[in-house]
Amino acid sequence: MPRHFLTGAELSRDELLALLDRAIELRADRLGSDALAGRSVGLIFQKPSTRTRLSFEAGVFELGGHPLILRPDEMQMGRGEPLRDTALILSRHVQAVGIRTHDDAIIEELARYATISVFNMLTAGHHPCQALADLVTLRETFGDLGGLVLTYVGDGNNVARSLAILGGIAGLEVRVASPPGYALEPIAGARLFEDPVAAVRDARAVYTDVWVSMGDEATAEERRRALAAYRVDDALLDRAAPDAIALHDLPAHVGEEITAEVLYGDRQRIWDQAENRRHAQKALLELLLR
Ligand code: CP
Ligand code: NVA
Repeated sequence: MPRHFLTGAELSRDELLALLDRAIELRADRLGSDALAGRSVGLIFQKPSTRTRLSFEAGVFELGGHPLILRPDEMQMGRGEPLRDTALILSRHVQAVGIRTHDDAIIEELARYATISVFNMLTAGHHPCQALADLVTLRETFGDLGGLVLTYVGDGNNVARSLAILGGIAGLEVRVASPPGYALEPIAGARLFEDPVAAVRDARAVYTDVWVSMGDEATAEERRRALAAYRVDDALLDRAAPDAIALHDLPAHVGEEITAEVLYGDRQRIWDQAENRRHAQKALLELLLR
């Protein structure tokens, strides 16, 4: 049976902690693994991407493999070939496939019919590869993750959900502060707040994401109104732990969910976090294709 990575809940704590340390090793030794030598990895993008595409395409190459960027409008899938048939064909040619898509039902169907590993490059519900990079960044910055408080401020979306799931597996205390109507559903181990100031107390990391995710454009204006008090700025960071860092998965909307002072300031680890996508995903591919 192939190993899939759809939500992150597939990993045990030991596997996840080993993956984080392996990512840090690979960061120091970029060409230190040929785990994908002679193997190809399909990367299907049904939504735009900068970081995910760059980090997977370069990362597969660095592991000695061949990345194939697949856009549905250039595949028969875009003309109605069923996902089941696409999964069967992919399974005959490549050793793993990642997909960035809309509903989680799409990636679940791909995983049901594929006989190769399927991994999630972002769905409406989850962004687990992002959470891996976030945890690598915390591990590099703080060392031991047990009991570390990470507060996510804003929309209870895919990024928040994956942080809650994978942060919980890693032993963090994940808090999510959102206005009414935008809260994350209860997830074991995560604490939900309405007041961002109360939520960041003692937090070592304050995390935010866009207020208008891909697919939410129709409700953009009401989202901006509802989330206006959930901006991560220096004043909010001052209410967190003295050594707190700011994180953001990017792309950022300066002046909405984050200020320029935080995004480009001394307390952020956001640009390292973006680089860690590649190292974390290389460690993930090693694990899935072991
Ligand atoms: N954080 C992230 O997934 O960025 P992209 O949408 O650019 O891939
Ligand atoms: N929540 C955002 C993340 C983008 C990387 C979205 O889904 O659009």
